[in-house]
Amino acid sequence: MLDDLSRPGFWQACEEQVAQARRLFARLIGADVDQVAILPNASIAAHQAAAGRRWRHRREILTTPAEFPGIAHTWLAQPGARVRWCGTPDGAVRTGDYLSQITPRTALVSVPAVTYRDATRLDVARIAGAAHEAGATVFVDAYQAAGVMPLHVDTLRCDYLVTGTGKYLLGLPGLAFLYVRHPDGPPPALTGWLGRTNPHAMRATVLDSPAHARRYETGTPAPAAVYAAVAGLSLVHSLDLQHVRHHTQRLIAATAQRLGAQGEVVRLAPDADAQGAHLALVEPHAEAMAAWLGHRSVTAAPRSGVLRLAVHAYTTTDDIDTTCEAIAAYRCRSRAGATR
Ligand SMILES: Cc1ncc(COP(=O)(O)O)c(C=O)c1O
Repeated sequence: MLDDLSRPGFWQACEEQVAQARRLFARLIGADVDQVAILPNASIAAHQAAAGRRWRHRREILTTPAEFPGIAHTWLAQPGARVRWCGTPDGAVRTGDYLSQITPRTALVSVPAVTYRDATRLDVARIAGAAHEAGATVFVDAYQAAGVMPLHVDTLRCDYLVTGTGKYLLGLPGLAFLYVRHPDGPPPALTGWLGRTNPHAMRATVLDSPAHARRYETGTPAPAAVYAAVAGLSLVHSLDLQHVRHHTQRLIAATAQRLGAQGEVVRLAPDADAQGAHLALVEPHAEAMAAWLGHRSVTAAPRSGVLRLAVHAYTTTDDIDTTCEAIAAYRCRSRAGATR
């Protein structure tokens, strides 16, 4: 990006990167480029998916407390809609919880492909089948799944899918994708010049909407995030994602077993297939633990009472050893009363 920035024609180069990011993402999920919009974050993408909907006859949005808060807040903010929650308040949710709560009043079913806290992998295709049978549309947040397991919109049977580039897609925060199966719904109120049929026509007095997903776009995306998205997606395309899925499943199982033997409590799905590519270690002071591990080259994410340990294609068993040993050392130091 810095090289392109120092040469003439940076804007055109940037536009080509945006087009390339769109192509790479569409190919990753088995979509058409015209079904993919590029937006700054997943929360805005969720708002765009709900754009123009009238929550009148069917008013219910079925979601879960395990949803990433930004997505759940989008549903809570829909005027006239009624949010119905499935799963427990502390974020335990299973596919069956969704299946038992879909009714003829359900308008939209919002499913995280993998939950952000406990890494529960839900059976999106089954939930989508039941939702469609009841006449509801299906929204999937795949932020914790894309890049680390195969993901195909026709297999998932979803109507909308969002994800961002800041995690397993190996890019930076600042860019999200919205997949829309039928991108011909009502035009969104949140719009901008990139949402026009021909953005370069530069007609301030005309508000038209193309019959493809770019109608959901707004203004200029952040170049650093776009360039990083292309680099990350290219890397992900060089991987066999089924192989990555097996690799991460093995690593997660080994980590869980080892941490259990060390006396740690981990929140695990009932079977390996229902587990995503991270592990939630129960720890009330997860921030302190993450900070301590960070000084020992172990990057982990604290989230309300758990420490998340994530793995990817490049993670090795040595990395798992280092992490488990660092956690054991942390416990020793904590018992001795020190935190650094
Ligand atoms: C499941 C999930 N959805 C969405 C996001 C991010 O949302 P946003 O791009 O709106 O910040 C995250 C980030 O941690 C996430 O884990």
